[in-house]
Amino acid sequence: MESNSIDQIIRDRRTIRTLTDQMISLETIHDLLESASYAPYHSKEEPWEVVMVSEQQERQAFVKEIMNSYERLDIWARYDQENLEKAKKRTQDYFLDVPITLIVTAPICTSEKSNLEAIGAVSAFIQNFQLAAWARQIGVTWRTIPVIFDQVFKQNVGVAVERQIIGLLDISAVDDKMKLPMSRRKPVAQWTKSLKEQVSEMSEGNK
Ligand SMILES: Cc1cc2nc3c(=O)[nH]c(=O)nc-3n(C[C@H](O)[C@H](O)[C@H](O)COP(=O)(O)O)c2cc1C
Repeated sequence: MESNSIDQIIRDRRTIRTLTDQMISLETIHDLLESASYAPYHSKEEPWEVVMVSEQQERQAFVKEIMNSYERLDIWARYDQENLEKAKKRTQDYFLDVPITLIVTAPICTSEKSNLEAIGAVSAFIQNFQLAAWARQIGVTWRTIPVIFDQVFKQNVGVAVERQIIGLLDISAVDDKMKLPMSRRKPVAQWTKSLKEQVSEMSEGNK
């Protein structure tokens, strides 16, 4: 992170799945959430809500809900059955070690337009949070693991039925000595076309 320009932070930010036990204060999380809340939104009320898992007791209860949900959803059936107990323990240990998790939700809207706007705004909020965190050497993993669609999990972690989970954000400080993952993106020219080119290619394809 050589420069703090917004462009540089956007390009440098990576999903960091390695955890450290460096303390992150709730004050810092509060500041990051406040910055994140300057995301654009297109509803009467700001659509984001956040449930925070930070204390040890909350963490234990939260991880129990994740593990129960994995059983309920039969997630383990897809795993190598010989090493199942190890896989379960690895999953449980990982979630127990995450310093702070945020459960970020949006309202479920019946109109397709409003629902898109709610999910879009909350996704912008999450990305703001990730970028502001990165600028303070804090890593975030945005997770959409299957449990977020489990109604029982949702209820047990305090998410109202009329809301949807957009992400679980696992938060951990980035260690200076950590080897950061590389990331490449496709060149812009590969996924950008003029309307004229796009329409003519589509009509060629339809022939
Ligand atoms: C909507 C969304 C859901 C994601 N869900 C997961 C997830 O469940 N587990 C995970 O490890 N990473 C998840 N990620 C992180 C992506 O895998 C990651 O952003 C991608 O590999 C690009 O890497 P980068 O963030 O370092 O650029 C998610 C990202 C987004 C935007």
